[in-house]
Amino acid sequence: MLALTALACIESTDLSKLQPTVDSLTARLDELTGGPVTPAAPAGAPADLGAADIEFTLITGGDGHNLVFRGVGGDIDGVVNPTLVVEPGDVVQITLINGQPTEHDLVIDGYNVATGSVMQMDEERTISFLAEQEGTFAYFCTIAGHRAAGMEGKLQVGAATQAAAGTSVIKNPADLPGPLGSRGPQLVEVELVGQEVEGQLATGATYSYFTFNGTVPGPFIRARVGDTVEITLSNETSSAFTHSIDLHAVNGPGGGAVYTQVAPGETKVFTFQALNPGIYVYHCATPSVPHHITSGMYGLILIEPEGGLTPVDKEFYVMQGEIYTAEDFGSQGLLTFDPQKMADENPEYFVFNGAAGALATEENWLTANVGDSVRIFMGVGGPNFTSSFHVIGEIFDRVYPFGSVTSEPISDVQTISVPPGGAWIVEFTVDVPGDYILVDHALSRLERGLVGILHVEGEANPDVFHEGEAP
Ligand code: CU
Ligand code: CU
Repeated sequence: MLALTALACIESTDLSKLQPTVDSLTARLDELTGGPVTPAAPAGAPADLGAADIEFTLITGGDGHNLVFRGVGGDIDGVVNPTLVVEPGDVVQITLINGQPTEHDLVIDGYNVATGSVMQMDEERTISFLAEQEGTFAYFCTIAGHRAAGMEGKLQVGAATQAAAGTSVIKNPADLPGPLGSRGPQLVEVELVGQEVEGQLATGATYSYFTFNGTVPGPFIRARVGDTVEITLSNETSSAFTHSIDLHAVNGPGGGAVYTQVAPGETKVFTFQALNPGIYVYHCATPSVPHHITSGMYGLILIEPEGGLTPVDKEFYVMQGEIYTAEDFGSQGLLTFDPQKMADENPEYFVFNGAAGALATEENWLTANVGDSVRIFMGVGGPNFTSSFHVIGEIFDRVYPFGSVTSEPISDVQTISVPPGGAWIVEFTVDVPGDYILVDHALSRLERGLVGILHVEGEANPDVFHEGEAP
């Protein structure tokens, strides 16, 4: 029942809430403002926009040795090159008064607004326009040399923080190496690079991620028991922080962190013997360690047992973490890390594979066909929150508790409990087509970005699941 409620809720509102598109917002804005605006009428012409919602008067003048616009009246009275703050949808009226006996004008870059010239002392021009497009735009005088001399200010439409776009850090859950088969022990060389990137956290919001190789989680590393694993960790020259790696698959101090504190521009190498099979978390271990982990520096390493794991049709790589931004969930712009919220374990975002709703879009959802056997390697980077991982509408046929592949799996499990710095393996066969929602069953986190989809295609299977009465 709870699962059904959650599913219905996701379908009706939550996904759309998580992924509002700029297009839909623009369309909404058009709806509210009566459609796209005609550019402002030419200088002096009566504008057919109705009464102004907000009016500004600017007078041209000198400011010691510079040329400037100065506000007249209201909040901007006397302010040099004042920022003109308006709401999206406002009809804005600007009156330009010439305070000098020389030619000036005013245009707004990106808005197709121009007053035309004022030539004489005290000459005025008034222009009205609809502030449709959100953002910050420069206004300035176009007379040669005047902008450079100081006649420039800003028109700010809407909140000062603007939607931000960064690179995707999302690790596709299908991006992992295949089974090693029956090969014997060998040398496995792994190259990792510490990369700090401004990545997309949510629609309109970015965050300064720390990553291994540009994604969250980092690369899925696959070796077998008895392998010699050589880890080469580089840190980009452009990094601001030292980075390192602690692999829980290692027997040795710091899991490798003692040999891999790598300053920006440096490279360090260490080698370990894979003694214990299992699925293990790796992460950066440079203070403040939780800061580096929350920012994305974690991943999984699988040490296969002799002969490997049972073959399945599909394998997926999913990791959960939480992000502590100073700004509230849903804020726009570049969001900043808040160490106090981290100390208080009070995150704003919960994420699968690095970003809000990362695995809920077609580009990155998990896909399978009816009848497929599916394996999910599910790890938690954290740094702090245990995941009650659950797939709505599925039952895990086999579960490997705490990632132990040398113990017998347990069968028929609904929800697993994955601790920070831990990973489990779940396996199940998909019997019925449709979308299955990946959640942490601590479901408040769903509304903070933690959601994924397993999309299953194939023939309906009414023997197992159908609407209506039993035949
Ligand atoms: Cu780091
Ligand atoms: Cu650790």
